[in-house]
Amino acid sequence: MERLVQAATAARENAYAPYSGFAVGAAILDEQGGLHIGCNVENAAYPLGQCAEATAIGAMIASGGHAIAAIAVAGPPGTRCTPCGGCRQKIREFAGADVPVFICADGVVVAEYSFGDLLPESFGPETMG
Ligand code: THU
Repeated sequence: MERLVQAATAARENAYAPYSGFAVGAAILDEQGGLHIGCNVENAAYPLGQCAEATAIGAMIASGGHAIAAIAVAGPPGTRCTPCGGCRQKIREFAGADVPVFICADGVVVAEYSFGDLLPESFGPETMG
């Protein structure tokens, strides 16, 4: 967990968030023990911005990872930056209900969830049959 928190906190330093000023970092531990990081990447065309979690998921897939074993999200100091609704669905593609989600700020965990608590009764790959 400490490794994930540190990685998410470090990734946050590279966030490109000139419009919101809200820098976010994320780190994913995959099923093989690989670590993948991401940060939010905003755009002058605002809706095209990408969340930190989505960046980290892309890094995991590009590196050959297949499943999320744990994920950490680091928001600005004093915040509790839980994944947005869209990111919950993106995480759902690669994470089961028991996957731990660590929310961090100031380099420490400020909240911890099981992913299933963040997205109950979800639609996922298994639903497709
Ligand atoms: N953001 C994330 O990167 N992850 C989240 O879970 C919540 C929001 C980003 C999107 C945008 O760049 C900024 O934070 C403000 O919404």
